[in-house]
Amino acid sequence: MAVLEVLLAALAVTGAATNLYVSSYAGSVTTLSLTKGNSGYDLTNTSSSQGCGSSPSWLELDKATGILYCIDEGLSTPNGSINTLKTSTNGVLTPVEHHDTITGPVSGIFYNSGKESAIALAHYSGSAISAWHTTAEGKVSYIENITFSMNRPGPVAARQEAPHEHEAILDPTGRYLLFPDLGADLVRVYSFDASTSSLVEREPLKADPGSGPRHAVFWSPDKSYARNSTLYFFLIHELSNTITSYRVRYEEAGGLAFEKVQTINTFGGKTVPTGAAAAEIIKTPDNGFIISSNRNDTSFLIDNPDPKNSTKIASDSLSVWQPAANGTLSFIQLAPAGGSYPRQFSINKVGDLVSVGLQMGSAVVVWNRDLKTGKLGDLAARIGVPGQITCVVWDE
Ligand SMILES: *[C@@H]1O[C@H](CO)[C@@H](O)[C@H](O)[C@H]1NC(C)=O
Ligand SMILES: *[C@@H]1O[C@H](CO)[C@@H](O)[C@H](O)[C@H]1NC(C)=O
Ligand SMILES: *[C@@H]1O[C@H](CO)[C@@H](O)[C@H](O)[C@H]1NC(C)=O
Ligand SMILES: *[C@@H]1O[C@H](CO)[C@@H](O)[C@H](O)[C@H]1NC(C)=O
Ligand SMILES: *[C@@H]1O[C@H](CO)[C@@H](O)[C@H](O)[C@H]1NC(C)=O
Ligand SMILES: *[C@@H]1O[C@H](CO)[C@@H](O)[C@H](O)[C@H]1NC(C)=O
Ligand SMILES: *[C@@H]1O[C@H](CO)[C@@H](O)[C@H](O)[C@H]1NC(C)=O
Repeated sequence: MAVLEVLLAALAVTGAATNLYVSSYAGSVTTLSLTKGNSGYDLTNTSSSQGCGSSPSWLELDKATGILYCIDEGLSTPNGSINTLKTSTNGVLTPVEHHDTITGPVSGIFYNSGKESAIALAHYSGSAISAWHTTAEGKVSYIENITFSMNRPGPVAARQEAPHEHEAILDPTGRYLLFPDLGADLVRVYSFDASTSSLVEREPLKADPGSGPRHAVFWSPDKSYARNSTLYFFLIHELSNTITSYRVRYEEAGGLAFEKVQTINTFGGKTVPTGAAAAEIIKTPDNGFIISSNRNDTSFLIDNPDPKNSTKIASDSLSVWQPAANGTLSFIQLAPAGGSYPRQFSINKVGDLVSVGLQMGSAVVVWNRDLKTGKLGDLAARIGVPGQITCVVWDE
């Protein structure tokens, strides 16, 4: 009987474990296991893989096939690379494929799922986008590269000396790919040929000069996200630390039309701290809130992760927003990110936990989140992970 109880308890713990994958510029992709016990959540390191080149910068999980796509920025090699790893419930990641790419990929998104399934990459330092076929087994094959150039630097010359594609985004109808370009103050827009997955250039969105568009998220007050739903695009700018909301319309002749609704700074109107650099923006699973991240703002002093050390540490922040049906964002909360440089963060399926990859803090933290108010609450768990953390994604 006692043995059976121990077995059942072990099964219950196993059943409650969730894997998270973490990429680090140390050259590793680490699997963390999040468990909930009587005394709260616990994060442990269960496995680590070197199968993503020297500078893993972004992760994209294909849940249907269990294949993790890991993008390597190639900071110390002539090329970047796209890599695939087969996931498993025990957390072990088995490398499947590696392909060199144009240098500097920092984000990727799946599109045209089905016979011609593909992934599009945004290359920051390579001033390019590239497209690749994918298979259920994690095989990857080249479709095309598209490179960009500029005649003269943008207003923030030190950062806008060339085009810098920073994220790859798919629209809610799955027909358009968007790439915020931090260097050129554009969001490049593409449709694609569904029979080949090759890209077709469309009219770009022109962002404010010197704003440095980095990431974005689509949002509709209509949870169905039908083709005729009212649609907005929240674009976050790293250089101006602002979020601009656009009303989006699908043009009959193809392409997207954008109408500016609102621009607000990422601190909800409060003075932007010197050195701040906005980074990520996502919507919550219930569609009710938007969360963005601020790096290098050191808005908070929080408890030292070492409980024996009474010296507080500086923390950057996350901003919580409530979108209204007219496309404006209301500022709800500035919350501690848990340390330095929340470059990317992600939210679990239920929406009550937010995991943050702290690039300079070399750690992953998980925050509790109130589903009703949308506010971030107490720290749920924290674990140190070597190197600069670039991305953390949930497998659930
Ligand atoms: C690797 O980088 C070199 C130098 O920039 C470039 O010429 C080459 O096309 C890249 N290879 C791939 C596979 O993109
Ligand atoms: C584009 O990608 C292909 C395949 O990866 C590569 O061979 C080629 O060199 C790339 N072109 C440029 C301009 O980098
Ligand atoms: C939107 O499209 C759906 C079908 O896709 C239709 O049922 C609905 O009436 C349309 N709504 C509007 C406002 O056009
Ligand atoms: C962070 O902000 C400070 C000013 O508070 C600035 O001196 C520093 O260069 C910034 N660091 C980075 C990496 O941007
Ligand atoms: C305590 O934490 C501070 C801030 O992180 C650090 O500078 C200091 O070295 C730590 N002290 C000890 C004894 O670990
Ligand atoms: C948009 O909606 C919000 C919330 O209902 C409201 O406070 C705001 O005044 C509206 N703004 C405009 C421009 O209509
Ligand atoms: C995770 O644990 C493995 C083996 O115990 C170790 O080799 C690796 O460095 C650890 N990785 C991280 C990110 O802590």
